[in-house]
Amino acid sequence: MKYLSFLIPVAGSAVFFVTGCNNPGTSALTPYSYTIQKSMISYNGAVVSAHPLASKVGVMILQQGGNAVDAAIATQLALAVVYPGAGNLGGGGFMVAYLKDGQSVAIDYREQAPAAAARDMYLDSSGNPVMRLSQYGHLSAGVPGTVAGLFASIKYATMPFEQLITPAIALAEKGFVITAGEATSLNHTQEEFQQYNTFPVAFIKQEGWKPGDTLVQTDLSETLKRIRDKGRSGFYEGETASLVVSEMKKGNGIISPDDLKNYEARERQPVEFNYKGYTILSMPLPSSGGIILQQCLKMIEQRNIGQMGFQSAWSVQLMAETERRAFADRAEFMGDIDFVKVPVHALTSDAYLEERMSDFIQGRAGSSEQIQAGRLNRESEETTHLSIADQWGNVVAVTTTLNGSYGSKTVVSGAGFLLNNEMDDFSVKPGVPNMYGALGSEANAIAPGKRMLSSMTPTIVLKDNEPYLVVGTPGGTTIPTSVFQTIVNIIDFNLSASDAVNKPKFHHQWMPDELYVERDFPSAIADSLQDMGYTITRRDNIGRTELIRIEKNKTGKGYLFESVADKRGDDAAEGF
Ligand code: GLY
Repeated sequence: MKYLSFLIPVAGSAVFFVTGCNNPGTSALTPYSYTIQKSMISYNGAVVSAHPLASKVGVMILQQGGNAVDAAIATQLALAVVYPGAGNLGGGGFMVAYLKDGQSVAIDYREQAPAAAARDMYLDSSGNPVMRLSQYGHLSAGVPGTVAGLFASIKYATMPFEQLITPAIALAEKGFVITAGEATSLNHTQEEFQQYNTFPVAFIKQEGWKPGDTLVQTDLSETLKRIRDKGRSGFYEGETASLVVSEMKKGNGIISPDDLKNYEARERQPVEFNYKGYTILSMPLPSSGGIILQQCLKMIEQRNIGQMGFQSAWSVQLMAETERRAFADRAEFMGDIDFVKVPVHALTSDAYLEERMSDFIQGRAGSSEQIQAGRLNRESEETTHLSIADQWGNVVAVTTTLNGSYGSKTVVSGAGFLLNNEMDDFSVKPGVPNMYGALGSEANAIAPGKRMLSSMTPTIVLKDNEPYLVVGTPGGTTIPTSVFQTIVNIIDFNLSASDAVNKPKFHHQWMPDELYVERDFPSAIADSLQDMGYTITRRDNIGRTELIRIEKNKTGKGYLFESVADKRGDDAAEGF
C-alpha cells in the first residue's frame, strides 16, 4: 500500500493537512474545522481520546494500515500538541496492550525523582510541607518519561516513527483551532503561566483566548522535529536536554543532563486476574491502579451486586466500602516496587480480601481510621486516557499525565512543552495528603531515581481470550474507582457502553472519610447513603472515561467496535 502525506493550503486555512492512501474512505485532518463525536460504531478500528483531533490522527494511522500500537503512539504525540493540559512530552504514563498473538504488555514510563531529590526536599526548616514547591514550578517536576515510553512501545508497532510523528508536527507548526473548553482552561491558567515562566509562552494570549482562536506552537514543533530526526536522544540529549537543564536553572529545578540521559521506560508484567469469567489486564506498580481495581472487583465478586441494581443505595454502599479498604491499603503499603517491598500477592489474595470485608455491614457506613483528614482540593485531575482497537485484534489502553492541569505550569523555554508536577504524587511527608487528598507512607517517600505512586489504570478486559473492553480515565485518585464502576456497570448491571461511561459516578478513598458523588448523582440515593452514616460530598466531574466495547462480528470474522467518549469533556470517539 502506498501512502501519501502532504500539505494543502486551502484559502488560508480551511484544510491544511491531508494524509491519504489507496484505501477509499481515508479521512482528512481538518484542524480549523472539526466536530466532536461522542460515540460511534465501526468495524475496522476505533480510537477514543480526550481531543477530537488526536482521535482523528489515531484513526488516520489505522487507515494507513498501522496497528493499534502505531495509532497509540501517533495519538499520544497529537495529544501533546492539541491537549496541553494533560497530553505531554514533559510528563509520563503507562501503556497496557493485548496483542493479536495473545501477548499482554505493560510499559511503565512514569516520571522519576531526579538524582538530586531527597526525602524531605519539600519540607521547611520546621519540618512542615511546602506544597507550593511540590505542586508548582521547576522543583515539582520529575524526570519526564513519555518520549522513552513511545520508543519502548515502537517494537510492537509496524510503521516508521517518522510517519507517526508527522501529524503532531503539522498540528504544532500550523496550529489548530481551540474549543470553548480549551479557551476557558487556558484563560483560567494565564496567571499561573505568567508566574511560573520567564519567557513568553504560546499558551498566554494577553487579551484572552476565545473559542475558534488558533494555537500555534512553533518551539514545540521544533522539539518534535528533533525527536523525529534523532529518536529518543532528540529529547533526552542534545538541544532539547540542554533547554530543559537551562530552564531548571531559572527556577531552582534539579533535573540534570544525566537524569535525562539515564531515564529508561520499563516493561512490566501486567496485573492479571479473573472476574466472573472475564480476564482483566491492568497496570501494576508503580501505579496502584491495577491492584486497587483487582481488590475492589474481588471484594464484590461473591456478593451478587447485579441483583442489588445499578446505583441502588446498597450497590453504591458495597462498592464504596471496597474503595475505602483498597485506598487504606494504598496509603499504607504501595510505592515503587523497584525501591520498596510491596506485598502484592497478599494484598490481592482471595483470603485476604474476604477477611478485609468481614466487618462490612450492609446498610451501615464503615469508618476510616482518623489519621489526618485529607481533602480533595479543587485542582483539576488532569491526566488523559486513550483507548484504541484495530481490525486484527490488537488493543491498547494508555493513560498519561502531567499530574495537575498543565503540570507545573512551567514551559521549557525554547522547547515549547510543559513540565509535569508529578513529584507531588510522592508522599511529601507521611500522613500529609497530596493534591488529590491521598495519604502515603514510607513506601511512597521520595528517593533519587524512584517513581512516584500513581493511580492510573489503563485496563483491558478479555472475554474468552478476545478483547472485550478497553477502558481508562484521568482523575487522580478517582481513576481506579471510575474504571471499577465502568466495568461493573457493564458486566454486572448490563448498562449500555454509553450509560456505563456517562451515568454519574461516585468515589471513596478512605481518607477523607467522605463519599464523593457527582452533581447529577440521584438525590434519593444520596439521602439513603447519608442515613446509613456516610458524609456525602457533591463535587464536579469524576473522570473522563474513554471506552471501547468489542464484539466479534456476527459473521464470525472481524469485530464490531462500540466507542464512547465521555460527555464530561471535549473527548471524541472516531473509527472507520
Ligand atoms: N498524577 C496522577 C496519577 O498518576 O495518579
